[in-house]
Amino acid sequence: MRVIASANQKGGCGKTTTAINLSSSLSLKGKRVLLIDFDPQAHATMGLNVKPSDRKNSIYDVITPKENKSLGIKDILVPIKDNFDLAPSSLILSAVEQELSGMEGREDRLFQAIQALKEQYEYIIIDCPPSIGHLCFNALRACEEVIIPIDMSLFSLRGVAKLLDIIILLKDKIGHDVRSRALITMYDRRTRYSRIVLEKVKAEFGNNVFETVIRYNIRLRETADCGLPVGDYDKNAIGHKDYENLAEEVIRQEAARMYPDLNTLNVTQDILQKTEEYIDMSVKPPGIEQPISEMENFSPHSPQSNYSQMVEAIATKSTNSFLSDEDG
Ligand SMILES: Nc1ncnc2c1ncn2[C@@H]1O[C@H](COP(=O)(O)OP(=O)(O)O)[C@@H](O)[C@H]1O
Ligand SMILES: [Mg+2]
Repeated sequence: MRVIASANQKGGCGKTTTAINLSSSLSLKGKRVLLIDFDPQAHATMGLNVKPSDRKNSIYDVITPKENKSLGIKDILVPIKDNFDLAPSSLILSAVEQELSGMEGREDRLFQAIQALKEQYEYIIIDCPPSIGHLCFNALRACEEVIIPIDMSLFSLRGVAKLLDIIILLKDKIGHDVRSRALITMYDRRTRYSRIVLEKVKAEFGNNVFETVIRYNIRLRETADCGLPVGDYDKNAIGHKDYENLAEEVIRQEAARMYPDLNTLNVTQDILQKTEEYIDMSVKPPGIEQPISEMENFSPHSPQSNYSQMVEAIATKSTNSFLSDEDG
């Protein structure tokens, strides 16, 4: 099992798009994939046409400490399509940042939760929130590899600095080796600025940049709004081809990372303190508009994903009427 997080402190750089479309492309290649939506904004959940408000439970119920036994990831799974399951998120996940503060073992909640799934999946992809906090820390602790999407802005590159700090701390303090690789997203070779950012990313990351470059492709935006991975809507889209290439490159890479010893709680105190300093310093992630109390109104039903109906509904529409044809 390979656990790969999609992370960058900057919002809008392609973390969720990468998580959804890499997961889908891996599943199309026959790999058993679980996508964990670990962002309270639940964009990956909604991007797969699963409504957080329709779900009784989410990854929050797995991560949050409960008096009774917390749920396992298997209790919240939503099957999306062949080989592809989702562990959905919901806005209430943002409460975890406070709930885990000061709690023993807080850094290991996600790591522990995925141990039970080792036999079930070949790939676990984690979509991280755009902030450095307990959620991001849990994701980095749980993964062996991190993909850092970098869109064509230098802010995106700056957002990487704190993430890399935590990765270095994890390695120094508990020997947890997270291999990080930058992924260029929204690349437009026609602009000089894109080429400048590409050069800067290569200078910063050296060999740790994916050969695959994700080009700007309006289909990726449109299909996310429809609740579909791009390839399930338009197999000829540039975005689908790019994420197919990324999946192939990921599969080619050796999974050479082993999980470290679990008995390292004491040594992580330094790291936690540093993380908590970051939380204090950081601004709230953008895009959280509803108060948490609204999200407590969960429906008692937990319907399956209506993904297949969605595919069917979209497939019956003509391509031209649904999406503009200028791109992809
Ligand atoms: N390669 C791309 N080409 C065009 N639009 C993209 C591309 N990648 C992402 N987007 C769009 O950019 C926006 C931000 O992407 P998203 O994946 O949600 O970023 P993040 O998860 O980092 O906040 C979304 O509307 C998404 O559909
Ligand atoms: Mg996102």
